[in-house]
Amino acid sequence: THQWRGIIEEYRDRLPVSDSTPVVTLREGGTPLVPAQVLSERTGCDVHLKVEGANPTGSFKDRGMTMAISKAKEEGAKAVICASTGNTSASAAAYAVRAGMVSAVLVPQGKIALGKMGQALVHGAKILQVDGNFDDCLTLARALSDNYPVALVNSVNPVRIEGQKTASFEIVDMLGDAPDIHVLPVGNAGNITAYWKGYKEYAADGVAERTPRMWGFQASGSAPIVRGEVVKDPSTIATAIRIGNPASWKYALEARDESGGFIDEVTDREILRAYRLLAAQEGVFVEPASAASVAGLLKAAEQGKVDPGQRIVCTVTGNGLKDPDWAVAGAPQPVTVPVDAATAAERLGLA
Ligand code: F0G
Repeated sequence: THQWRGIIEEYRDRLPVSDSTPVVTLREGGTPLVPAQVLSERTGCDVHLKVEGANPTGSFKDRGMTMAISKAKEEGAKAVICASTGNTSASAAAYAVRAGMVSAVLVPQGKIALGKMGQALVHGAKILQVDGNFDDCLTLARALSDNYPVALVNSVNPVRIEGQKTASFEIVDMLGDAPDIHVLPVGNAGNITAYWKGYKEYAADGVAERTPRMWGFQASGSAPIVRGEVVKDPSTIATAIRIGNPASWKYALEARDESGGFIDEVTDREILRAYRLLAAQEGVFVEPASAASVAGLLKAAEQGKVDPGQRIVCTVTGNGLKDPDWAVAGAPQPVTVPVDAATAAERLGLA
């Protein structure tokens, strides 16, 4: 009888919904906040992981999508569209099914992880692979929603941000107050915008006593905010954050400056190191883009920017199963054995 009801029912009074809003939900949110032992030891801090890969479609996008699709349904939309590096499209496709709507997704050709493409396909989305990058896809999605009967569900839609801010509420509800530092990967910059909004709202209403410093990390080959200029041809193995002109750029700067935080970059090598550490030492399998937050924390610690004794939350945004190529690549091939206990025991180093 006691199931988490999804973010709209759990935080109804803090979201722009009314009694006449049809709630389209897969019971998203309520994700684990996992103490990170190895990261805590390395930094001398109390580090927690907000594991957003535990959402119904495997990423934080579900928090925003339950809002976007519910509001689109309330407004009578029959079809939704988004540009995506893969997770938004997976989420939009699933929630559109729940709402009885058609979904159309625009993805950069050859640059989305196989698992995410599989999700959009199996949920019956109409998929167009665009001969361009994510920024081109978003331009196209805006043009289509401006001129045709289809609702845009990217995070430029403000109700997406409203839904995503609930992750901050959950963290404060769990810890009793905001952490000292919150660390996030940054792509289109919707999520850092949303978390900051959530923390500010809880502090303004006295639910939290403080707000955290917001630390954001972009991939080095896709770091327009760090560089202070649009990146024309963004590159990184973390395809989810391969974005050269973030839509919420301005709000990311606000989150950074108002909170006294910073936005920096991490290399693909640093991302993969954090990706492997999370899986091999914390037991948490995330997709490469998600590991950018942890890579950033470790980099900051090495630079002496992390004072010990602080409480830190790193959001890990998406499930590792979405993009398993990097788990398999470079790993030793498992050995094959006959059905024989002695041989198996020997190969396992037990005998
Ligand atoms: N991590 C993952 C796994 C993502 O999918 C994204 C964004 C981000 C981090 C960055 O979040 O854009 O709010 O700064 N993915 C979008 C998509 C762009 O289309 O799925 P952001």
